Amino acid sequence: MTKTRATRHAALALAALLTAGAVWAEITVTDDQGRTEVIYDVGVLHPMPGAQLTYDFCTACHSEMIIAQQGQTREGWDEILVWMVDEMGMGELYEEDREMILDYLATYYSPDRPHFPQN
Ligand code: HEC
Repeated sequence: MTKTRATRHAALALAALLTAGAVWAEITVTDDQGRTEVIYDVGVLHPMPGAQLTYDFCTACHSEMIIAQQGQTREGWDEILVWMVDEMGMGELYEEDREMILDYLATYYSPDRPHFPQN
């Protein structure tokens, strides 16, 4: 578990370094609950708080496209996360990270599919 978190921090540090060299676009996004996140690469994911965390954890094994094409309720996403851990070998997430990812997925990748990839 600590390994996953360390990896994320290393990635953030790397992004910060690259940004200092002015080669990496980095933006800070805020949602209507006032939560913020620094975004540097989320692929096709909708750039809102939780996107970077989701991208960093979930693209270790597969494209984020597999996520963006899904539309699920919070319960549905919860089950997918359990499935990733139990059957696919994903490491357990810290509770606060898990909540952030679940909030993100349930909001922007709900059954209404507001951010279904366009191509
Ligand atoms: C340790 C590897 C691993 C990680 C990390 C991982 N997944 Fe997966 N995931 C898989 C594999 C393997 C499949 C393909 C399963 C299959 O189709 O049989 C998959 C498939 C999926 C699918 C497609 C399910 C379907 O109906 O076809 C979704 C959605 C998904 N993952 C979401 C996520 C999310 C969200 C995260 C991050 C929280 C995540 N995955 C992280 C290994 C992983």
